[in-house]
Amino acid sequence: MNRLKTQLAKIKMKNPVTVASGTFGIEFAELFDLTCLGVVVTKTITLEPKAGNHPPRLYETPSGLLNSIGLQNPGVEIFIKESLPDYRKILEDNPDNPTPLVVSFSGATIREFINVLQRLEEVSGIAGYEVNVSCPNVEKEGLSFGVDSEAVYRLTKELKENLKTDRELIIKLTPNVTDIVEIAQAAEEGGCDSLALINTLIGMAIDWQTGNPFIKRGFGGLSGPAIKPVAVYNVFKVSQNTQLPILAMGGIATWQDALEFFYAGANAVAIGTGNFINPLSTLEIIDRLAEFLESKQLDLQSIIGKTGKLLNQ
Ligand SMILES: Cc1cc2nc3c(=O)[nH]c(=O)nc-3n(C[C@H](O)[C@H](O)[C@H](O)COP(=O)(O)O)c2cc1C
Repeated sequence: MNRLKTQLAKIKMKNPVTVASGTFGIEFAELFDLTCLGVVVTKTITLEPKAGNHPPRLYETPSGLLNSIGLQNPGVEIFIKESLPDYRKILEDNPDNPTPLVVSFSGATIREFINVLQRLEEVSGIAGYEVNVSCPNVEKEGLSFGVDSEAVYRLTKELKENLKTDRELIIKLTPNVTDIVEIAQAAEEGGCDSLALINTLIGMAIDWQTGNPFIKRGFGGLSGPAIKPVAVYNVFKVSQNTQLPILAMGGIATWQDALEFFYAGANAVAIGTGNFINPLSTLEIIDRLAEFLESKQLDLQSIIGKTGKLLNQ
C-alpha cells in the first residue's frame, strides 16, 4: 500500500517529493535513480538563451543562501533539442515507474511567455508547466509580473487560452509582495490548475570590512532554512484562501520540514537549497516520510491541511 500517493490538479505523483527549479539538473542522475522522485522540475528556461548575472552570484548567510543567477539558461530551442531527450530517456526508461516532467519557464513580456509555451506544446514528454513569474516585466517598467495581481491574472488567462494539450499549468508565486493571497487568487481566476510557492525572498549581505555587497549585483534571492517559517505561513494562508493544489517549497531540508508544509496545506513539496547540502536529501525525505506514515498507520492525504482544521475547531 502506498501511503505517499498524492496529486496536484492533473499530475498524479507516487510520492509528494520533487526538486525546486534551478537547484537540480540532469547530472543528478549520476547520483540516484530520478524515477524515485514524485515529479522532476527543470531549471527555468526562456525564449532566448541567457548568460545570467556576473559572479559572485552565490553567498551563504546564516541558515540561508543568497543567489542572483539571473535565469542563466540555453533557451527553449536548445532545451528541446538537448535536455528534453535526456530527461525523457531517464524518466520514461522504466514504463512501470515513470516520473512526470514539469518544465519551468519564464519571459519578460506576455508574448515571450506565450512563445515559449507554444514551442513546448509542440513536443511530447511534458506533464506540466511551472510558470516563474518573478522575472522583470518589461511592459511594467521592470516590476516583476508576480507582484501585480492584474498582470498575473492576464498572463495566466492568456497562457491557459494558448494551452492546446491537457498539461498542468502551475503558477509559481513570489513572496516579495504585500499580500500573496491576492496574487494567488488572481492566478486562480486566470484559470491555472495549481500553485507553486515560494520563490526566494529578496535579500542582501555586505562585507563589514569593505562595505562591498557579497553578491556582484548587490542583492539576491534568499533561500534555505532561513526562509522556512515565511514559506510555511504563505502556504498556510494561500491554502486557506484558494481551492488550488499547492506545490510548496522554501527551506525544506528534512522529512519533518516536509510534514510542516503538509499540515499547512501543501499537496507536494520541493527541495531546493537542501539539494546543495545533501544531493540525496529528496530520497531520504521520501523514505523517512513513508516510515513515519507507516508507523502511524496514516495516509499523506489525511494530514494535508490539518493545521487549518485544528485552528478552526
Ligand atoms: C541557485 C538557485 C537557483 C534558482 N533558480 C530558479 C529558477 O531558475 N527558477 C525558479 O522558479 N526558481 C529558482 N530558484 C528558487 C527555488 O526554486 C526555490 O523556489 C527557492 O530556492 C526556495 O526553496 P529552497 O529554500 O528549498 O531553496 C532558485 C534557487 C536557487 C537557490
